[in-house]
Formats: sequence, C-alpha cells, structure tokens
Amino acid sequence: MLNAARQLGVDLGSVCGGVGLCGRCQITPVFGDFPKHQISSSEAALTKATATEGEYEARKGLTIGRRLGCMADICGDVVVDVPATSQVHRQVIRKELELVDLVVDPVSTLHYVQMEAATLETTIGTTRRLAQALRDQWAMEHITVDPRALRDLQAAGDTCTVVIRDGVVAAVWPGFHETTYGVAIDVGSTTIAGYLLDLTTGEQLSSGGLMNPQIRFGEDLMSRVSYVMMNEGGDRLLTDLVQGALNDLVGDLAKQAGIERTEILEITLVGNPIMHHLFLGLDPRPLGEAPFKLTTDESITVPASSVGIKAHPNAAAYVLPCIAGHVGADTAGVILSDQPHTRSPIALLVDVGTNAEIVLGNQDRLLAASSPTGPAFEGAQISAGQRAAPGAIERVRIDRATLEPRFKVIGNDAWSTENPDLDPTGICGSGIIEAIAELFLAGVISEDGVVLDRPSDRVVPDGRTFSYVLADGITITQNDVRAIQLAKAALYAGIRLLMDKLDIDVIDEIRLAGAFGSHINVMYAMILGLIPDCDLTKVNSAGNAAGAGAVMALLNRDARREIETVVRRIEKIETATEPAFQAHFVDAMAFPHKTAAYPHLSQKIELPQRAAPAAQGRRRRRPSQEEST
Ligand code: FES
Repeated sequence: MLNAARQLGVDLGSVCGGVGLCGRCQITPVFGDFPKHQISSSEAALTKATATEGEYEARKGLTIGRRLGCMADICGDVVVDVPATSQVHRQVIRKELELVDLVVDPVSTLHYVQMEAATLETTIGTTRRLAQALRDQWAMEHITVDPRALRDLQAAGDTCTVVIRDGVVAAVWPGFHETTYGVAIDVGSTTIAGYLLDLTTGEQLSSGGLMNPQIRFGEDLMSRVSYVMMNEGGDRLLTDLVQGALNDLVGDLAKQAGIERTEILEITLVGNPIMHHLFLGLDPRPLGEAPFKLTTDESITVPASSVGIKAHPNAAAYVLPCIAGHVGADTAGVILSDQPHTRSPIALLVDVGTNAEIVLGNQDRLLAASSPTGPAFEGAQISAGQRAAPGAIERVRIDRATLEPRFKVIGNDAWSTENPDLDPTGICGSGIIEAIAELFLAGVISEDGVVLDRPSDRVVPDGRTFSYVLADGITITQNDVRAIQLAKAALYAGIRLLMDKLDIDVIDEIRLAGAFGSHINVMYAMILGLIPDCDLTKVNSAGNAAGAGAVMALLNRDARREIETVVRRIEKIETATEPAFQAHFVDAMAFPHKTAAYPHLSQKIELPQRAAPAAQGRRRRRPSQEEST
C-alpha cells in the first residue's frame, strides 16, 4: 500500500521506510460498493494483518479498522482513507498563534535506514553505505554526511535514523528515532517569545517568554546602540545577554515539553534589525546612524551554537531576512504570517513596539517603513506607566457627566466600581490610550491635547497645567498626553506617508500586530487617530504575527523561500528623509488628526463637542496655551 501511495502521489507518511516501526503510514480501508469509483472494495483486497502489525499494536496501539500501509499488500480493488495524522504534509491547526493554511514540510526530515552490513570484502566507508541505503530505500540521490555527524554515524551501527537537511545528513541516531523538534523565537527588545514544536506533526508542545535582559541598558533600541557606541565591548556584552536569554528560553521550552534540548534540530529567529545584529554577534552601531546600514538583508542559516543556543550539536538556526535599516526580520515574520502580498485588498500591518513598523500594500505593491514612536505605547515615558503586567490598568471608562472613572486591571475581571479593592500599580499602553481617549470624549482633553480645567475633584492643578486623577497615585498628566500625542503622530505620519506613496486615501483592512496590537481597543486607537479612518470591522489584532512567521519558517521550507522572495520586492521608505513626514506629523498631533472624518465612530460613540465651553463655578488658575504646550 505504501508503494502504491508513493507511485500515485498520495500523501502517506513514513519515517521507518516501511518496516512497521513508525506507524506514520496508517490507513483505514473502507469496504462496500463505490459507484462513484465504479469498484467494489472487499476485505479480500488486502493481505491479512501481519505479525509486525500485531507487535506495533501491542506497543503503540492501533485504532480499530486501521492497518499499517507498509504492511498491507493490495490484492484487488480497494478504497482506503488516509487519516490526517498519516499525511506527510498535514494541515496545522493552532489557536494560540494565527497561522495561515500551512502544511508541515520542514527542512529537516527523518529517515530510518538499514545499511548493508560491512564485510571483509566491503571496500566502501559507512558514509557511502549510508548513501547507498538512502538511494535504495528512500530513492534519495547524492546525499552527503555533515562531518559533525560522523561520530554519531560511527556509533549508530548499520540500522539507524538520520535527519536530512538540504541533502546533507545532519544527525544520526541508532535504531529507530521517532521525531525531532524545533523552536521558533521572536526576539523583541522588551520580551522574547518562543514556541517549541514537533517537526513531524507540527504540534506545538510548549510556549513561553521572558524579558529581554538588555532592558537594563534602556527601554528603547537607540539607548542600547548608544551604550555600545560609548562603551568599548558593549556590543559583546549585549550579545552575551540576549544569547544567554535565548538559551534559557530554549531550556525552559524543552523542560516544559518534557524533552531533552539535544533533540532540538531546528531554530528560527525573528527580531528587529538591532536585535538581529546583536543576537548574531554583529556590531549594531551602523544601524544607529544614517544611512542605517544593515550588514545583511538576506536570510542566514548558522549553527544554533553560534547564537548561544545549546541544542543538538548540529542544530541550525535560520534567521529570517531583515528588510531595511529600521525594518527587521520581525516585520518579515509579520508579512509571512499575514500574507498581504497574496491578496488584492490594500492592507495595513502595524507592529507597535519601541518603533512602529508599518507595511502597506497588496499583491501588486508592498511598502514598508518604520516610525519613531518611542516607548510611550509600552507605558514608558508615562508618569504612572508600566508594562502590561498584573496590576496595570488596561481598560478605562469615564462618565461624561460626573467625570468619575471606572477601570479594570490586568489579572482581575471586575471593574473598579464592582470591586473597590482594586489596587492598581500603574497604567499600561492600552490603558493610557483608553484613558486619554475617554478624557477627550468627556471634554477634559481638548483636540489640541490640552488637559482642561473642569469642575471635578478628579481634575487637579499640576504646576502650570492640570492633571486627571484616575486612581490613588495614578494621574494622567499633561506630559503624559504630550508623550502619547508625539507617539501617535509619528505612527500616523508614517502610515500617511506610505498612503501618499501608494496614492490612496482609503485602506481596506488594518491588522495590529504585537502585544500592544493584541490589547488595544481599536475604537480608541481610531478616536485618538493612531491609525487612519477605516471600517472598524476591518481593523483587528494579528496577535504575535512575527512569532507566527517564525513558526511558519520552522514548519515549512517553502515559507522560507517565499519570504526571501517577497522581501526583495518590498519598497523601503525612509521616514527620516521624507519632507512630507514632518508635515503629516504636525497635522497628526491633534486628536484624532486634522483630516479625520469620524466615518464609523459617530454611530458608535458620542463624539466630543468641538469647542467645549470653559468650566464654570470653580476658581483655579487656568494654564495658558503656551504653558501647557
Ligand atoms: Fe513506518 Fe509503516 S512506514 S510503520
């Protein structure tokens, strides 16, 4: 049956090569009349179950009605089902990461071989005996052996399982070895996220993340480059830190999955250009000043050990290509996972971190740029700001009449009005966006971003300006509003610039990637003008799209070729040198932005009075416009 499947091009798996060990070739014969196929399928059409199948059933169990395809010989017309689990190129279904339809077809594949025993007369070495066995048993031609696998080959004996990567034997285990593993890693400047997967089934076995230890050298990327510029050996230190974190993460993921880290054969990595250079041990300084020169904008495959990861001695790390000096392999991952280059609607992808990477376009043209938003969206530069962690305010509502707030903190489902004991520790990026948008809607913040005096105990003088007291010890200050205005103006101006280049005024769909994109309420993003006007139903989160791209490159060899080709087509726009960027930036400082049409929001929310009347009844010195800007 296995041979017939191969001849007919039916997708039926095998690791053991047809000796009844792996169970990957399972099929379900179906009996009866099949007018559609014009045949009758009967039990006599297959040979009886063999002793090997009995042994397999005793060892691993076999679902009733199933046979091992490699053991069942065909004697007549028969209809068989190939269960999804027996397909080599099986579909991956995963909820945690958003993956487009993907078949498992990794660069590393397992093959069980039985070499001819060496005799006194044998004049060829084991590598050639192996190549011969692979030719005879797997129809694989011109296979060579990586010198680093020779010791394992020597120790394995004549019956072994080999891993073949790009026509080269990369690993050898004695006897039958069932599976190999891979890890996909998204190296962010704040957090590093990883996913461990079974490379034969595509199943995700564990996931996890840790803080990037470089953070003590600065929240934003430029402060890390500055550290390297000002400190001899600083690049080595930052490389050691990130590589150490990668190694720790892989160790954690292996432990969680209950496997040995030496069973991990493949790693894929994405990251912004500075992280990319640092984890590869490259000097990031050329990325810190014009012309923001990338050392390479091609994909790279290096030994996993050279990025500090202890795994199988021959494990390889594939790094997705960077796109431009400010647009990294993480954006390549976002593109691979979201596939804007395969669709006709004009899509905007935004990955907000300490920089915002922006991709705009469709199957015809794709543009990319980076906007210097700074870390305000991550809670930095905000007086009570903190990262999105338990205790941080993440949702805010403000009563339009009384100006009394309600809020939710991460880690607790109740609103503050239902649970007065909520004791927030700070406010995270999504919380500050909601707070400022709600204050804008409530008329406490003007279109120009000025915190206005209002007759409420919540609005208090703060030097020459006013602040809004959201909770005990947590206030929204004038400076906080300014920080968000600057960040959102940079983001909006970058997007607008790309729209100009494409000569469009309307975007068909918007996808917000990354942690910020997952948490932010898109309606509030639009109220403040972070993103252009778009049908709200067409704006959604892409989750960790960069990580999903890394997983795709881990599980599917064609995905690597795809992104390598697509990045060559991307038009890179440098925001720093475009005069229009400055003009858009200035226009975008207002809430939501100068040209806002409030197209869909007006049906959902009550928009603020454009010229809110001055507060009456309380005497407090009002800051002048000059003081507050
Ligand atoms: Fe391995 Fe059939 S091919 S058990």
